[in-house]
Amino acid sequence: MYRCARKLHHLFRSLLLLSLMTATGAHAAEKIDLIIDTDPGADDVVALLFALASPQELNIRALTTVAGNVRLDKTSRNARLAREWAGREDVPVYAGAKKPMMRTPIYAENIHGVEGLSGVAVHEPKKGLAEGNAIDYLIDTLMAAKPHSITIAMLGPQTNLALALIQEPGIVQGIKEVVIMGGAHFNGGNITPVAEFNLFADPQAAEVVLKSGVKLTYLSLDVTHKILTSDARLNKIAALNNHASKLVVDILNDYIKADMAHYGIPGGPVHDATVIAYLLKPQLFSGREVNVVVDSSEGPAFGQTIVDWHDGLRAPKNAFWVEGGDADGFFDLLVERLARLK
Ligand code: BDR
Ligand code: CA
Repeated sequence: MYRCARKLHHLFRSLLLLSLMTATGAHAAEKIDLIIDTDPGADDVVALLFALASPQELNIRALTTVAGNVRLDKTSRNARLAREWAGREDVPVYAGAKKPMMRTPIYAENIHGVEGLSGVAVHEPKKGLAEGNAIDYLIDTLMAAKPHSITIAMLGPQTNLALALIQEPGIVQGIKEVVIMGGAHFNGGNITPVAEFNLFADPQAAEVVLKSGVKLTYLSLDVTHKILTSDARLNKIAALNNHASKLVVDILNDYIKADMAHYGIPGGPVHDATVIAYLLKPQLFSGREVNVVVDSSEGPAFGQTIVDWHDGLRAPKNAFWVEGGDADGFFDLLVERLARLK
């Protein structure tokens, strides 16, 4: 009798807890603790607005900047502009590496404009950089983090994380996953016939990250070239008619021109924003676990990602390679999030 009463009591307590959790939403998926490493860059700014408009899912701890599309002072200014436009000056911006680990610096002003932000006017943002540099920030934060708790979105050359890994290999303990925009396999390259810009800009850094043993996901040109703008998709963004949507349409209309002309495609990719969509809604994407290496030797394959898609080498899998994506799903999600901004 007593046992039966106790069982009923436990059952009643579990049911009560369950209904409380449902009422408060406490059962919802945990927020992603996120650091965004970036070289804005037109598509980086779209990605940043997308991410900063998603505080329910993404706990953005900081933006860390790196030289890439343009010089570091400009990428750092553009990251602070994105933060200002999103009304998220609470997120600190740390400036990182001024140049790649070993190779001579390259920039992509021909694609992103001299200010690194095509299609819109830039100004000096009200709020400055955080004190300290991105590499120290990564080391301190990842060493102090709970085991495997922090995700890093990597939207540019991987110099900052590589330098942090070399200086303090113990930081892997804090990393949950690194989600990278970079590389190319089926698609071919966009800066050489075989290399994608972010890996070509610092292949030695990508190599350090690939060998680190951390969980890696690659959103390469294979998928970003399947998720293209169109007039209808840009019109949906424009119809939001807020400041952020106007910025995104102006940025994209200018940014996509070069790729549309170069590849003869009907719209342009929004590369870095696919990383944010992947974090928010991974079910929009498909891929497989593979072995990837990057060629960092001088020659025509410099910066190429070599992906063992068919597992011919039987080598250890070190990355999840995203190859497919739902383009409508991506743009619907982007529109939904931009609608939340002013
Ligand atoms: C990548 O290179 C940069 O120019 C873009 O911002 C993106 O990160 C695409 O190859
Ligand atoms: Ca970028």
